Amino acid sequence: MLLHIPDVLTSQEAQSLNAALAAAEWVDGRVTAGYQSARTKHNSQLLEDHPLARELGDKVLGAIEKQPLFMSAALPLRVFPPLFNCYKDGGSFGIHVDNAVRQAAGTSFRIRTDLSATLFLAAPEDYDGGELLVEDTFGTHSVKLPAGHMVLYPATSLHQVRPVTRGARISSFFWIQSMIRDDGQRSVLFDLDMAIQRLSAESPDHPSAVQLTGVYHNLIRMWAEI
Ligand code: NI
Repeated sequence: MLLHIPDVLTSQEAQSLNAALAAAEWVDGRVTAGYQSARTKHNSQLLEDHPLARELGDKVLGAIEKQPLFMSAALPLRVFPPLFNCYKDGGSFGIHVDNAVRQAAGTSFRIRTDLSATLFLAAPEDYDGGELLVEDTFGTHSVKLPAGHMVLYPATSLHQVRPVTRGARISSFFWIQSMIRDDGQRSVLFDLDMAIQRLSAESPDHPSAVQLTGVYHNLIRMWAEI
């Protein structure tokens, strides 16, 4: 499931992060790439333990935790400290798959990457290219979102970032280990949660709302790894 989560940050908040990052010291993005992806990765990143990365990363974490759509779709167990990257001057990232396990630099914090997230910080009219292309069983999806919006997709997907031919594409990216490892099971729970919320809003006293909520939690009991 590929999900667009709007307004994780307001456009002003995104703009202020974008401006702080534009003035930061960037390093070659291959610092976090695996052997195979390093060959096709042409961008820059903020070092994981850079104070600005940690300060802004905490802001991103604070914002996503307040997003009911994110919590429902990801059912997060652990979230990797958000990283930041910048594509410009033709920079791109060829087709690749993200590493299955990630360890935060200099710590014992380690996650299995079930989901990948990209939070767009630059306004789309300020750069050309830079689309995130994600492949799934229904074909290739092209994603380029307003500043402050986020896309969430299975980390098992092949994906790439198209060359940025004008301006700079600055974004935050990170991974989530979900309580529900399997993307299909997670999608079922998300659909069920959305249907329960609609039923509860339209018909608050409907007895099926309670029963379906029970089914939802019982499925989580069956499938969750915590
Ligand atoms: Ni990737």
